[in-house]
Amino acid sequence: MSNSEILVKELADKYGRNRESLMPILQDVIEVRRYVTDEVLVSVAKELDLSAAEVFGTASFYSFIDTKEVGKYVIRLCKTIVCDMKGKDAIIGALESTLRIKVGQTTPDKKFTLFTTNCLGWCHKGPAMLINDEVYTELTPGKAIEIIENYMHK
Ligand code: FES
Repeated sequence: MSNSEILVKELADKYGRNRESLMPILQDVIEVRRYVTDEVLVSVAKELDLSAAEVFGTASFYSFIDTKEVGKYVIRLCKTIVCDMKGKDAIIGALESTLRIKVGQTTPDKKFTLFTTNCLGWCHKGPAMLINDEVYTELTPGKAIEIIENYMHK
């Protein structure tokens, strides 16, 4: 049995083998591994007796479930209308030039991945971004760079 199969089996033991266990299992995998591989998704489908299409569909529907390898810190900058009007483009520019990557990419040292995402629910304090589970609001390009620099030294 591979490590992924063992992990998924343990989580299925913990949460039960039914449709409702799908999200908690995927969330736990993310916590341990930061992203889910195809192998994990296939194992989850087997353990829960769901179709692979359903499991892959669920994983790709939620933008916080990464199905490709990501860096240690995953930045998700809101691209929805309020943050857009409040200057998210300037924040993207600042993040891209500080990290020397484009949206969708991971730094060569695998420390940062930069994504845009839909509304994070912090519109009143936009522009907003998440770094892993931490939310940062009322961003300016300078503030965004400062935040990233702090993470660089972590
Ligand atoms: S529009 Fe950006 S947090 Fe809602």
